[in-house]
Amino acid sequence: MTTPNSLEARDIAHLVHPYTDLRAHESRGPLVITEGHGIRVRDAEGHEYIEGLAGLWCVSLGFGEQRLIDAARRQMERIAYTHTFAHRSSEPVILLAEKLTALAPGAISRAFFVNSGSEAVDTAIKLAWYYNNARGRPEKKRIIARRRGYHGVTVAAGHLTGLAYARAGFDLPMRDRFLHLTPPSHYREGRPGESEEAFTDRLVRELETLIEAVGAETVAAFIAEPVMGAGGVIVPPADYFRKIQPVLRRHDILMIADEVICGFGRTGAMWGSDTYGIEPDMVTCAKQLSSGYLPIAALLMTDAVFEVIADQSAKLGVLGMGYTYGGHPVPAAVALRTLEIYEEDGILEHVRRVSPRFLARLKALEEHPLVGEGRGVGLLGGIELVRDKATREQYDPALKIAARVVENCTARGLLLRPLPGDVVGICPPLIITESEIDELFDRLAGALDATVGALDRAA
Ligand SMILES: Cc1ncc(COP(=O)(O)O)c(C=O)c1O
Repeated sequence: MTTPNSLEARDIAHLVHPYTDLRAHESRGPLVITEGHGIRVRDAEGHEYIEGLAGLWCVSLGFGEQRLIDAARRQMERIAYTHTFAHRSSEPVILLAEKLTALAPGAISRAFFVNSGSEAVDTAIKLAWYYNNARGRPEKKRIIARRRGYHGVTVAAGHLTGLAYARAGFDLPMRDRFLHLTPPSHYREGRPGESEEAFTDRLVRELETLIEAVGAETVAAFIAEPVMGAGGVIVPPADYFRKIQPVLRRHDILMIADEVICGFGRTGAMWGSDTYGIEPDMVTCAKQLSSGYLPIAALLMTDAVFEVIADQSAKLGVLGMGYTYGGHPVPAAVALRTLEIYEEDGILEHVRRVSPRFLARLKALEEHPLVGEGRGVGLLGGIELVRDKATREQYDPALKIAARVVENCTARGLLLRPLPGDVVGICPPLIITESEIDELFDRLAGALDATVGALDRAA
């Protein structure tokens, strides 16, 4: 779309682009973003945009945050690389583990550092298996996830991601260790006349029925995003997790909270687990851990889980896993500074102050002819587009209605992302102000109007 002056068209031809139709991409080229400040970024031709998805749900502190740049530079100048294998460590990693576990929900007390959300989820799966082998329960290996959940795309995490696009053409899923349940979208999955409470109870029964069908002795863990992000911003009923949790406890099934999007204030509490009363045994986190400035992620676990794993590693002689860049000191220093800034700047309080405006503007979009539901929590939102509000009928997928809205947003200086289920996701940097929230929604409303106008003209 836009080519920086320093690049020729031919220079763009060497990169394989994730999440694109690679052939369509060849003729169109990428939108090349070259700089950013606060909640705004600029492309190679000088057009300015509000980054309405904080990059990929990660740039919580906005662009050009000097304190993070300084933290990275300072650490690189001191020592640019160390690792955490075989009793080695570094100051930022030790301090980050301490800070992160102090902030973490419930009984979480240990951190294992990795590079991405997918790696954190893969690590959770492997350690859940290791944990049950250590306890003499080799059959207890299945992991339950939900359709439309997004947990990454590496081979194991990709099995948990309940989205067709992440499977088609990749030979996934391979076996029966990964099971999927109904996502907690009352709007899309609720039956006619079914209250939210009855819907929640039905989903809890579905979980129990599945556990009984396969045998609790074969189920290791349940993994869930507190609010599903990439699968279409699905906000669960308020009591959903509070009702799920006792079922898991009763059957000795680990609760893995995938906080890769929800962690660090996104839902108006430090963790989505805090917002929804989840008591996780393991937590995966990434993205806003470093405000997206450098790649870093973590798998967190309780002492109870850690102790079993530690005993097993003593028995086997080693915990046989780790990553060259897991526990890299530079991203760790940036993550540590990020967590300090959240406190120094009162980011959580800020989110609580401005989110009522965000949620009110989101809800108001339900007045628009295209929008069936505007849903969200904190500063995380989505609008589900429908052809018929009464029946909730969706548009022909070939129309790619959400992608059209997003293109119209781009033309109006707003970057958002189309998600499965005809949803447009909205997830601005947490530093966004009320007037910037208005600007964001004004541009989105304009894009919705333009999309309706084009549909009417085509009809
Ligand atoms: C909830 C959740 N889990 C895991 C992942 C995978 O993270 P990554 O893309 O860093 O591998 C994502 C990515 O968006 C996510 O949203």
